[in-house]
Amino acid sequence: MESVKPVGVFDSGVGGLSVWREIVQHLPHESTIYLADQAHVPYGPRALDQVQALSEGIVRFLLSQGCKIVVVACNTASAAALHDLRRIFPGVPFVGMEPAVKPAVEQTRNGVVGVIATQATFQGALFASLVERYGGDARVLTRICPGLVTAVEAGALDTPRTEALLRECLTPLIDAGIDQLVLGCTHYPFLQPIIEWILGPEVHVIDPAPAVARQVSRVLARRNMEAGPGQVSCHTFYTSGDAGAFSVMLGRLLPLHAKDVDVRAIRWRGNCLR
Ligand code: DGL
Repeated sequence: MESVKPVGVFDSGVGGLSVWREIVQHLPHESTIYLADQAHVPYGPRALDQVQALSEGIVRFLLSQGCKIVVVACNTASAAALHDLRRIFPGVPFVGMEPAVKPAVEQTRNGVVGVIATQATFQGALFASLVERYGGDARVLTRICPGLVTAVEAGALDTPRTEALLRECLTPLIDAGIDQLVLGCTHYPFLQPIIEWILGPEVHVIDPAPAVARQVSRVLARRNMEAGPGQVSCHTFYTSGDAGAFSVMLGRLLPLHAKDVDVRAIRWRGNCLR
């Protein structure tokens, strides 16, 4: 029965947990398998074809675990690989991330919006096509934020160094007068309180994760694959990095009880995860 199978979710690290928590809140009966490729985090500075190959290996692993849908909870992997993943795995439903340019342009009052994301996300064809389709007359300003993903991975959510990195990244956007800021990397919602504090009340911050969770729900419903109310959900987490360190971060980032958490280490052997 498809409905009892888990929802697969992956990211380079802990960032995709900002999407995972929305999925679990929106679809409480679904079981999930989350995979963090911490052996390769950050993905952002890597070549697109390398991120593609890593994403393909991860999807093969998630499918081998029986996942009924794969959520690419990583803007960088979505930009680099989503198109190819849909071609390589034609029967598999995928939901990916894309920077929320459309809602930002719809909501801007002054026509100036900012997007923060990784270098690879801006390089992919996906971002250019979003700006072309939805940018309209708005000025869409982009910034990469070197070091931020690594800071979140290290749990440095509110340190002076993280604040300094954010100020360096956001100041040109503030000076340009943005009134919308799109979080174009799934690690950044964990910094949203400090981002909002730096930007001030005039700038609206957009995290696309709730919309992605609704899309997962729609795709499952369309295929009659939703878990029913009688199903007991179970959540498994894999990391290609250090399982102990990942468990600690899970506890910091999400309100989970230790008893609910099953964290396992997994290793790359060539192009395969085992
Ligand atoms: N969280 C990811 C994203 O949304 C990956 C960031 C990285 O690994 O550089 O882009």
